[in-house]
Amino acid sequence: MILANPAAICHARPMVPETGKQSWSLRELLHFYADAGADEALGEEAVDWFAERMPPSEEQAPSSERGAGPRAGQKPGEGGFSSDASIRPSKGEISRPLPAAVPDGAQVARARELAREARTLEELREQLAAFDGCNLKFTAKNLVFADGNPGANLMLVGEAPGRDEDIEGLPFVGVSGQLLDRMLAAIGRDRRSAYIANVIPWRPPGNRTPTPIETEICRPFIERQIELAAPKVLVTLGNPSTKALLDTQVGIMRLRGTWREHRTAGGRVIPAMPTLHPAYLLRNPAAKRLAWRDFLEIKAKLAATDPE
Ligand code: URA
Repeated sequence: MILANPAAICHARPMVPETGKQSWSLRELLHFYADAGADEALGEEAVDWFAERMPPSEEQAPSSERGAGPRAGQKPGEGGFSSDASIRPSKGEISRPLPAAVPDGAQVARARELAREARTLEELREQLAAFDGCNLKFTAKNLVFADGNPGANLMLVGEAPGRDEDIEGLPFVGVSGQLLDRMLAAIGRDRRSAYIANVIPWRPPGNRTPTPIETEICRPFIERQIELAAPKVLVTLGNPSTKALLDTQVGIMRLRGTWREHRTAGGRVIPAMPTLHPAYLLRNPAAKRLAWRDFLEIKAKLAATDPE
C-alpha cells in the first residue's frame, strides 16, 4: 500500500479514520498508516492538497510550461504520459493534482508495432527499455525483463515484479522466487534450464494490481518474448498471467493442472500449463501439493516432447 504524502495529511489536520482524533503528530500518523499496511511513501516533498489552487492564469498555461502533463483540454488517457516526476511540485510551489495520465489504446497499438519489429530477445529488451507508453515505467526503478536461459525449452511467466525484483532488475528473486527455485529444483531444473519473465516488466507502485490497460499495453511485449524464446512448454504462474496469455476468463483454481495452448502471433502453438503462483503457495501452503502435481505434469510433457 502506498502512502502518498504523510506530511501533507498532517498539515491538514484530518479527522483520522475510525479514531475521531482531530490532530496527530507525524510520528503517530506514520505509525497509524504503517499498521494499516502502507509501506511506501511516494512523495519526497510534502504537498498540501488543501491549500489554495493555482490562479486561473497558471491553470491555463500550456503544457510545455507545466512539464509533460496532459495538454490543455486533453482528457486523461488521450495520448499523454507524465511521469510522477513531471507532476511533482517543486519546493514551496502551490500545487494541485493534475489528472492522472492514463495511457490510451494508441499505446497498445504502438506496443504491438514495437514488439513485432523486434527480431531478437535483445532487440525486444531494447524496445521495451525505450518505450514510454506505460506509466508503470516511471515509478519503477528498473526494467525487469527476464532471467534464466532464453534457449531453455521451459518458460515460466509471472504477473509483475515486486520490490526485490524492481531493485535487482530480475524476475522472481524475492521470497516467492526462492519458492519458485525450489519448485523447479523438484523437477530437476534451475535458472540455467528455464527462462523466466513477467507479463508486466515494471513493478506497479506498492505492488498494486496492474490495471487492465497496463496489462494490455505490456501484453504484446511478453507475447513477442514468448514467441522469440520459443519454449516447448509455457507455464503461467497465477491468475493474471494465465488470463493474459491463455485468453481465458476461467479462474486459476479451475484451470490449473490442465493443458492449454498459447498461440503466438506467427501461429505457433505452445502447450501451456497454468499453475498456482508461488506467492499464493506461500500464503496457502496446503495448496503446494496441487502445484507439485502440476510440475510433475510439466516434467512429463517436457520428457515426451523434447527428450534430451
Ligand atoms: N511475482 C511475480 O509475479 N513476478 C515476480 O517477478 C515476482 C513476484
